[in-house]
Amino acid sequence: MTSPDERERAELLADLRADPPRISPRYFYDEVGSALFDRITQTPEYYPTRTELSILRDEGAEIGARIAEGSVIVELGSGSAEKIVALLAHVRAPRLYRPIDISPRALATTCDGVRHAFPELALAPFEGDFTAAAAYADLPPGAPKLVYYSGSTIGNFEPPEAMAFLRALRARLASGDALLLAVDLVKSGAVLNAAYNDAAGITAAFNRNLLRHLNARFGADFDPEAFDHLAFFEPRKSRIEMHLVPRTQQRVHIGGDVLVFSKPIHTESSYKFTTDDLVGLARGSGFTLEAVVTDPRRWFAEAIFRA
Ligand code: AVJ
Repeated sequence: MTSPDERERAELLADLRADPPRISPRYFYDEVGSALFDRITQTPEYYPTRTELSILRDEGAEIGARIAEGSVIVELGSGSAEKIVALLAHVRAPRLYRPIDISPRALATTCDGVRHAFPELALAPFEGDFTAAAAYADLPPGAPKLVYYSGSTIGNFEPPEAMAFLRALRARLASGDALLLAVDLVKSGAVLNAAYNDAAGITAAFNRNLLRHLNARFGADFDPEAFDHLAFFEPRKSRIEMHLVPRTQQRVHIGGDVLVFSKPIHTESSYKFTTDDLVGLARGSGFTLEAVVTDPRRWFAEAIFRA
Protein backbone atom coordinates (compact mmCIF):
# COMPACT_ATOMS: atom_id res chain seq x y z
CA MET A 1 0.00 0.00 0.00
CA THR A 2 1.28 3.48 -0.87
CA SER A 3 -0.12 6.34 1.20
CA PRO A 4 -0.98 9.69 -0.41
CA ASP A 5 2.16 11.13 1.27
CA GLU A 6 4.40 8.45 -0.25
CA ARG A 7 2.80 9.01 -3.65
CA GLU A 8 3.44 12.76 -3.42
CA ARG A 9 7.05 12.17 -2.39
CA ALA A 10 7.60 9.72 -5.27
CA GLU A 11 6.06 12.19 -7.73
CA LEU A 12 8.21 15.04 -6.38
CA LEU A 13 11.40 12.95 -6.68
CA ALA A 14 10.52 11.90 -10.24
CA ASP A 15 9.89 15.56 -11.18
CA LEU A 16 13.19 16.67 -9.60
CA ARG A 17 15.10 13.91 -11.45
CA ALA A 18 13.48 14.75 -14.81
CA ASP A 19 15.52 16.61 -17.44
CA PRO A 20 15.02 19.52 -17.01
CA PRO A 21 14.01 19.23 -13.34
CA ARG A 22 10.63 20.63 -12.32
CA ILE A 23 8.43 21.19 -9.25
CA SER A 24 4.61 21.27 -9.31
CA PRO A 25 3.30 24.85 -8.83
CA ARG A 26 0.79 23.55 -6.29
CA TYR A 27 3.65 23.62 -3.74
CA PHE A 28 3.70 27.44 -3.94
CA TYR A 29 0.64 27.70 -1.73
CA ASP A 30 1.58 26.94 1.85
CA GLU A 31 0.57 29.60 4.37
CA VAL A 32 3.58 31.84 3.62
CA GLY A 33 3.21 31.32 -0.14
CA SER A 34 -0.50 32.22 -0.11
CA ALA A 35 0.33 35.44 1.79
CA LEU A 36 3.12 36.22 -0.73
CA PHE A 37 0.69 35.64 -3.60
CA ASP A 38 -1.73 38.15 -2.04
CA ARG A 39 1.16 40.65 -1.91
CA ILE A 40 2.02 39.95 -5.58
CA THR A 41 -1.54 40.93 -6.53
CA GLN A 42 -0.92 44.32 -4.88
CA THR A 43 2.34 45.13 -6.71
CA PRO A 44 2.04 47.82 -9.41
CA GLU A 45 3.41 45.40 -12.05
CA TYR A 46 1.00 42.47 -11.48
CA TYR A 47 -2.05 43.66 -13.42
CA PRO A 48 -4.21 40.45 -13.67
CA THR A 49 -6.07 40.62 -10.35
CA ARG A 50 -6.96 44.31 -10.48
CA THR A 51 -7.83 44.07 -14.19
CA GLU A 52 -10.16 41.13 -13.59
CA LEU A 53 -11.82 43.05 -10.75
CA SER A 54 -12.27 46.09 -13.01
CA ILE A 55 -13.98 43.90 -15.64
CA LEU A 56 -16.35 42.42 -13.04
CA ARG A 57 -17.18 45.89 -11.71
CA ASP A 58 -17.40 47.83 -14.99
CA GLU A 59 -18.77 45.15 -17.32
CA GLY A 60 -20.61 43.11 -14.71
CA ALA A 61 -24.04 43.95 -16.16
CA GLU A 62 -23.10 42.33 -19.47
CA ILE A 63 -21.85 39.22 -17.65
CA GLY A 64 -24.83 39.11 -15.26
CA ALA A 65 -27.30 39.26 -18.16
CA ARG A 66 -25.90 35.90 -19.37
CA ILE A 67 -26.28 34.19 -15.99
CA ALA A 68 -29.72 32.61 -15.55
CA GLU A 69 -31.88 34.02 -12.74
CA GLY A 70 -31.78 31.75 -9.69
CA SER A 71 -28.46 30.13 -10.60
CA VAL A 72 -26.31 28.13 -8.23
CA ILE A 73 -22.89 29.83 -8.30
CA VAL A 74 -20.01 27.34 -8.05
CA GLU A 75 -16.51 28.77 -7.59
CA LEU A 76 -13.42 26.65 -8.30
CA GLY A 77 -10.82 27.63 -5.73
CA SER A 78 -11.22 30.21 -2.98
CA GLY A 79 -9.30 32.82 -1.05
CA SER A 80 -10.00 36.55 -1.19
CA ALA A 81 -13.77 37.12 -1.66
CA GLU A 82 -13.35 40.38 -3.58
CA LYS A 83 -13.97 38.95 -7.06
CA ILE A 84 -16.90 36.70 -6.22
CA VAL A 85 -18.57 39.56 -4.32
CA ALA A 86 -18.16 41.80 -7.39
CA LEU A 87 -19.66 39.06 -9.59
CA LEU A 88 -22.56 38.22 -7.25
CA ALA A 89 -23.61 41.89 -7.31
CA HIS A 90 -24.68 41.31 -10.94
CA VAL A 91 -26.37 37.91 -10.58
CA ARG A 92 -30.19 37.93 -10.49
CA ALA A 93 -31.45 36.15 -7.37
CA PRO A 94 -28.53 33.70 -6.86
CA ARG A 95 -29.87 30.47 -5.34
CA LEU A 96 -26.75 29.25 -3.51
CA TYR A 97 -22.99 29.86 -3.42
CA ARG A 98 -20.73 26.78 -3.46
CA PRO A 99 -16.97 27.46 -3.23
CA ILE A 100 -14.80 24.35 -3.78
CA ASP A 101 -11.26 24.19 -2.37
CA ILE A 102 -8.90 21.71 -0.73
CA SER A 103 -7.99 24.32 1.92
CA PRO A 104 -10.53 24.74 4.76
CA ARG A 105 -8.89 28.06 5.69
CA ALA A 106 -9.32 29.46 2.17
CA LEU A 107 -12.98 28.32 2.18
CA ALA A 108 -13.60 30.04 5.52
CA THR A 109 -12.03 33.30 4.27
CA THR A 110 -14.23 33.34 1.15
CA CYS A 111 -17.39 32.44 3.05
CA ASP A 112 -16.74 35.21 5.62
CA GLY A 113 -16.41 37.78 2.83
CA VAL A 114 -19.51 36.58 0.95
CA ARG A 115 -21.61 36.37 4.14
CA HIS A 116 -20.63 39.91 5.03
CA ALA A 117 -21.68 41.27 1.60
CA PHE A 118 -24.75 39.01 1.06
CA PRO A 119 -26.07 37.94 4.48
CA GLU A 120 -29.19 36.33 2.94
CA LEU A 121 -27.38 34.12 0.42
CA ALA A 122 -27.17 30.39 1.20
CA LEU A 123 -23.53 29.20 1.45
CA ALA A 124 -22.48 25.58 0.94
CA PRO A 125 -18.65 25.26 0.89
CA PHE A 126 -17.18 21.96 -0.35
CA GLU A 127 -13.77 20.82 0.86
CA GLY A 128 -12.13 18.77 -1.87
CA ASP A 129 -11.14 18.58 -5.50
CA PHE A 130 -12.92 20.73 -8.16
CA THR A 131 -13.80 17.80 -10.35
CA ALA A 132 -15.10 15.51 -7.56
CA ALA A 133 -18.61 14.31 -8.48
CA ALA A 134 -19.66 14.89 -4.84
CA ALA A 135 -19.03 18.65 -5.21
CA TYR A 136 -21.92 18.86 -7.72
CA ALA A 137 -24.16 15.95 -6.66
CA ASP A 138 -25.96 17.62 -3.73
CA LEU A 139 -26.86 20.92 -5.46
CA PRO A 140 -30.56 21.87 -5.76
CA PRO A 141 -31.88 19.65 -8.59
CA GLY A 142 -32.94 21.51 -11.74
CA ALA A 143 -31.30 24.81 -10.74
CA PRO A 144 -29.13 26.36 -13.47
CA LYS A 145 -25.42 26.43 -12.63
CA LEU A 146 -22.72 29.02 -13.25
CA VAL A 147 -19.18 27.83 -12.58
CA TYR A 148 -16.63 30.61 -12.00
CA TYR A 149 -12.91 29.87 -12.44
CA SER A 150 -11.08 33.11 -11.69
CA GLY A 151 -7.55 34.45 -11.93
CA SER A 152 -6.44 32.73 -15.16
CA THR A 153 -5.55 29.77 -12.96
CA ILE A 154 -6.37 27.59 -15.99
CA GLY A 155 -3.09 28.96 -17.41
CA ASN A 156 -1.12 26.77 -14.99
CA PHE A 157 -2.21 23.63 -16.91
CA GLU A 158 -0.33 22.36 -19.96
CA PRO A 159 -2.69 22.74 -22.98
CA PRO A 160 -3.77 19.05 -23.11
CA GLU A 161 -4.41 19.10 -19.35
CA ALA A 162 -6.46 22.30 -19.65
CA MET A 163 -8.63 20.59 -22.27
CA ALA A 164 -9.02 17.43 -20.15
CA PHE A 165 -9.94 19.59 -17.16
CA LEU A 166 -12.65 21.43 -19.14
CA ARG A 167 -14.05 18.13 -20.45
CA ALA A 168 -14.24 16.73 -16.93
CA LEU A 169 -15.99 19.91 -15.78
CA ARG A 170 -18.44 19.75 -18.70
CA ALA A 171 -19.38 16.24 -17.58
CA ARG A 172 -20.53 17.70 -14.23
CA LEU A 173 -22.85 20.23 -15.92
CA ALA A 174 -26.23 20.08 -17.67
CA SER A 175 -26.93 21.53 -21.09
CA GLY A 176 -27.50 25.29 -20.71
CA ASP A 177 -25.26 25.65 -17.63
CA ALA A 178 -22.42 28.15 -17.95
CA LEU A 179 -18.73 28.52 -17.15
CA LEU A 180 -17.23 31.97 -16.54
CA LEU A 181 -13.58 31.38 -17.38
CA ALA A 182 -11.03 34.11 -16.55
CA VAL A 183 -7.98 34.20 -18.82
CA ASP A 184 -4.95 36.44 -19.09
CA LEU A 185 -4.54 37.57 -22.72
CA VAL A 186 -1.42 37.65 -24.90
CA LYS A 187 0.10 41.14 -24.84
CA SER A 188 3.45 42.91 -25.08
CA GLY A 189 6.40 40.98 -23.67
CA ALA A 190 7.45 44.03 -21.63
CA VAL A 191 4.15 44.13 -19.73
CA LEU A 192 4.16 40.35 -19.18
CA ASN A 193 7.80 40.19 -18.07
CA ALA A 194 7.33 43.06 -15.60
CA ALA A 195 4.32 41.33 -14.01
CA TYR A 196 6.50 38.34 -13.03
CA ASN A 197 9.59 40.40 -12.11
CA ASP A 198 8.19 43.03 -9.74
CA ALA A 199 10.74 45.57 -8.54
CA ALA A 200 10.04 44.86 -4.85
CA GLY A 201 11.05 41.20 -5.35
CA ILE A 202 7.81 39.68 -4.04
CA THR A 203 7.55 37.24 -6.96
CA ALA A 204 11.18 36.18 -6.39
CA ALA A 205 10.39 35.53 -2.71
CA PHE A 206 7.25 33.59 -3.76
CA ASN A 207 9.34 31.46 -6.13
CA ARG A 208 12.05 30.71 -3.50
CA ASN A 209 9.42 29.96 -0.85
CA LEU A 210 8.61 26.83 -2.85
CA LEU A 211 11.93 25.36 -1.64
CA ARG A 212 11.27 26.38 1.98
CA HIS A 213 7.90 24.63 1.71
CA LEU A 214 9.52 21.44 0.33
CA ASN A 215 12.03 21.53 3.21
CA ALA A 216 9.20 21.67 5.76
CA ARG A 217 6.91 19.21 3.99
CA PHE A 218 9.41 16.53 2.89
CA GLY A 219 12.37 17.06 5.23
CA ALA A 220 14.57 18.42 2.43
CA ASP A 221 17.54 20.76 2.88
CA PHE A 222 17.34 23.14 -0.08
CA ASP A 223 19.11 26.49 0.47
CA PRO A 224 16.55 28.87 -1.12
CA GLU A 225 19.07 31.75 -1.15
CA ALA A 226 21.40 29.69 -3.37
CA PHE A 227 18.86 29.97 -6.24
CA ASP A 228 18.06 32.96 -8.45
CA HIS A 229 14.51 33.83 -9.57
CA LEU A 230 14.07 33.69 -13.35
CA ALA A 231 10.79 34.54 -15.12
CA PHE A 232 10.25 35.37 -18.79
CA PHE A 233 7.61 35.28 -21.53
CA GLU A 234 8.28 32.52 -24.08
CA PRO A 235 6.29 33.72 -27.14
CA ARG A 236 6.60 30.42 -29.06
CA LYS A 237 4.70 28.68 -26.28
CA SER A 238 2.62 31.71 -25.32
CA ARG A 239 3.55 31.29 -21.69
CA ILE A 240 5.41 32.82 -18.80
CA GLU A 241 7.99 30.38 -17.46
CA MET A 242 9.33 30.62 -13.93
CA HIS A 243 12.52 28.86 -12.89
CA LEU A 244 14.86 28.66 -9.90
CA VAL A 245 18.45 28.82 -11.14
CA PRO A 246 21.17 27.35 -8.88
CA ARG A 247 24.03 29.86 -8.49
CA THR A 248 26.46 26.98 -7.98
CA GLN A 249 25.88 23.22 -8.12
CA GLN A 250 23.53 22.26 -5.25
CA ARG A 251 23.53 18.93 -3.37
CA VAL A 252 20.17 18.41 -1.70
CA HIS A 253 18.91 15.68 0.67
CA ILE A 254 15.25 14.69 0.62
CA GLY A 255 14.81 12.13 3.36
CA GLY A 256 17.29 9.40 2.39
CA ASP A 257 17.72 10.55 -1.23
CA VAL A 258 20.48 12.82 -2.53
CA LEU A 259 19.93 15.00 -5.61
CA VAL A 260 22.34 17.29 -7.44
CA PHE A 261 21.13 20.41 -9.28
CA SER A 262 23.14 22.35 -11.82
CA LYS A 263 20.33 23.24 -14.26
CA PRO A 264 17.38 25.62 -13.69
CA ILE A 265 14.37 24.01 -11.99
CA HIS A 266 11.11 24.80 -13.83
CA THR A 267 8.58 25.89 -11.17
CA GLU A 268 5.63 27.31 -13.13
CA SER A 269 4.14 27.87 -16.55
CA SER A 270 1.44 30.51 -16.88
CA TYR A 271 -0.16 30.33 -20.32
CA LYS A 272 -1.53 33.46 -21.98
CA PHE A 273 -4.49 33.18 -24.37
CA THR A 274 -5.95 34.65 -27.55
CA THR A 275 -9.64 34.69 -28.55
CA ASP A 276 -8.82 31.89 -31.02
CA ASP A 277 -7.44 29.80 -28.16
CA LEU A 278 -10.75 30.30 -26.32
CA VAL A 279 -12.76 29.14 -29.35
CA GLY A 280 -10.58 26.01 -29.53
CA LEU A 281 -10.86 25.27 -25.81
CA ALA A 282 -14.66 25.61 -25.90
CA ARG A 283 -15.10 23.48 -29.02
CA GLY A 284 -12.75 20.79 -27.82
CA SER A 285 -14.51 20.37 -24.47
CA GLY A 286 -18.22 20.41 -25.33
CA PHE A 287 -18.98 24.10 -24.75
CA THR A 288 -19.75 26.98 -27.10
CA LEU A 289 -17.95 30.28 -26.60
CA GLU A 290 -20.83 32.68 -26.03
CA ALA A 291 -19.06 35.95 -25.19
CA VAL A 292 -15.66 37.39 -24.29
CA VAL A 293 -15.78 40.43 -22.00
CA THR A 294 -12.52 42.39 -21.67
CA ASP A 295 -11.07 45.60 -20.22
CA PRO A 296 -10.41 48.62 -22.49
CA ARG A 297 -6.71 47.64 -22.93
CA ARG A 298 -7.69 44.02 -23.75
CA TRP A 299 -5.23 42.67 -21.19
CA PHE A 300 -7.57 40.19 -19.47
CA ALA A 301 -10.87 38.49 -20.30
CA GLU A 302 -13.92 36.85 -18.78
CA ALA A 303 -15.10 34.23 -21.27
CA ILE A 304 -18.62 32.84 -21.07
CA PHE A 305 -18.70 29.16 -22.09
CA ARG A 306 -22.17 27.62 -22.54
CA ALA A 307 -22.60 23.86 -21.98
C1 AVJ B 1 -2.40 32.20 -9.63
C2 AVJ B 1 -1.52 30.88 -11.40
C3 AVJ B 1 -2.84 32.80 -11.90
O1 AVJ B 1 0.16 32.55 -13.13
O2 AVJ B 1 -0.12 34.66 -12.74
C4 AVJ B 1 1.76 34.95 -9.99
C5 AVJ B 1 0.52 32.67 -10.14
N1 AVJ B 1 2.95 33.19 -10.31
N2 AVJ B 1 3.04 35.32 -10.08
C6 AVJ B 1 -0.15 33.48 -12.39
C7 AVJ B 1 1.71 33.59 -10.15
C8 AVJ B 1 3.76 34.26 -10.26
C9 AVJ B 1 -0.63 33.17 -10.97
N3 AVJ B 1 -1.82 32.26 -10.97
